[in-house]
Amino acid sequence: MNLKKLIAITSVTALGTAYASQPAQAQMASDEVLVNTCFSCHGTDGKSSGDMPTISGKSASYIFNKMMDFRSGKKPSTVMMRITKGFSDAELKAITNFFAKK
Ligand code: HEC
Repeated sequence: MNLKKLIAITSVTALGTAYASQPAQAQMASDEVLVNTCFSCHGTDGKSSGDMPTISGKSASYIFNKMMDFRSGKKPSTVMMRITKGFSDAELKAITNFFAKK
């Protein structure tokens, strides 16, 4: 095996290890994973079934402000405070963008 090839293999392995050992919170989950949290109650397209409020058709600012108010407790909620507390501002923005397009 020549030296160049060995260096290439070693650096790929090092990258793989660094990626695998990164703590889960350090990187933002993909948008798809984030919005999966909402699907069970609000539907995959934001059109809720049952008693949950429908979020499709609402503007981005409406959705984002609602979630910030749930998280801070300004807007009383049964479950949304607990759910929104699990996300950073950037994550809530990504989630908002997904549903605002629906
Ligand atoms: C366990 C069911 C459940 C899940 C999961 C859930 N929600 Fe909700 N959502 C509710 C309920 C119930 C309300 C009404 C407020 C309350 O009682 O918490 C609500 C209200 C809302 C509202 C306000 C709608 C309005 O017009 O007042 C928005 C926006 C919203 N949810 C977005 C989301 C997003 C985005 C997610 C995913 C991160 C999510 N919800 C996950 C049940 C859920």
